[in-house]
Amino acid sequence: MSDPTNHRKVEHIEILQNDPETERSGKAFDQLHLSHRALPEVDLKEVDPSVTFLGKRLSFPLLISSMTGGDHQDLRHINRNLAEAAERTQVAMGVGSQRVMFTHQQAAQSFTLREVAPSALLFANLGAVQLNCGFGIDECRTAVNILEADGLFLHLNPLQEAIQPEGDTCFAGLGKKIGQIARQLEVPVIVKEIGCGLSFPDAEYLCAQDVLFLDVAGTGGTSWSRIEHHRRNTEIEDDLGLLFQDWGIPTPVALRNLAPLRDLGVTLIASGGIRNALDMVKSIILGAGLTGMAKPFLEPAMESADAVVEKIEQLRTAFTTAMFLLGARTLRDLHGREDLFQ
Ligand SMILES: Cc1cc2nc3c(=O)[nH]c(=O)nc-3n(C[C@H](O)[C@H](O)[C@H](O)COP(=O)(O)O)c2cc1C
Repeated sequence: MSDPTNHRKVEHIEILQNDPETERSGKAFDQLHLSHRALPEVDLKEVDPSVTFLGKRLSFPLLISSMTGGDHQDLRHINRNLAEAAERTQVAMGVGSQRVMFTHQQAAQSFTLREVAPSALLFANLGAVQLNCGFGIDECRTAVNILEADGLFLHLNPLQEAIQPEGDTCFAGLGKKIGQIARQLEVPVIVKEIGCGLSFPDAEYLCAQDVLFLDVAGTGGTSWSRIEHHRRNTEIEDDLGLLFQDWGIPTPVALRNLAPLRDLGVTLIASGGIRNALDMVKSIILGAGLTGMAKPFLEPAMESADAVVEKIEQLRTAFTTAMFLLGARTLRDLHGREDLFQ
């Protein structure tokens, strides 16, 4: 546990548990009102929320967003519970940054999840900035192979790195390097933010670099600036992390901004502050193919796979109910249908 990257993951979870205001409770989704259908003209029993993503069938469009992994009993426990639940409920799951396994071999075990999730849609994860710190296609392949992943998330986190006293802040020329990985890797590369959102110019540039999957990960939920503020303050006493705690683009705004890119073949994933099935439905209407949640799964994952399954099943029931009340039988009846907002 002496490895700083490894230790950081444990610290992040402790901070999330001790400071409830790391959850920003943005209200951007609440400003969108769904249009009730008193005459839905569909049988609730026939409503089908399933979707195919990267060739795998999901029971509904849910992604357990990237969180953790490392050489620590709690981190292994969280990932196994999430993976087992993803398998049992047929939803997608991303693991947290795998950078740690390149400095701390024991960490790899927390990313070998096929034993409990043989068929689930699983995503590997690395920080894109590591491509400016010596990582390249070999590390990306290793991260994918250890998980036997269906895709690789490369996360963009310039704000987090800027607040971290030990952050890697050279983001110069990253877009082109991400493009090279996307063209070389055997599985799709998905670029994500971690809670500040993707802007149209950034997304358009990534699209020009052949990145065809983007997770907007906007503001409204977990604030990494605020989390890092606590760690920063052990070394530097200032309020930089608090000043930027709500910095970024709210998730529904980012989705709307990026919608034109769908015509160029880009698949959008919505995440950041999605807290219930109605936020999920609104995201699908705004053009997302998949919707992700991270923080809401942390507590159940620390408990058991059953607790995660229960949470997912509640989400699925609510999601199906909302589809029924909007007169939607399949996801095609929701996708891009802004007329379903009042
Ligand atoms: C405990 C925790 C750890 C996270 N670690 C990572 C990570 O390693 N890599 C990454 O891409 N995102 C990471 N994230 C960010 C999430 O994937 C997500 O983009 C962000 O938290 C916004 O979603 P939320 O509001 O539902 O939490 C982490 C989130 C949490 C809560």
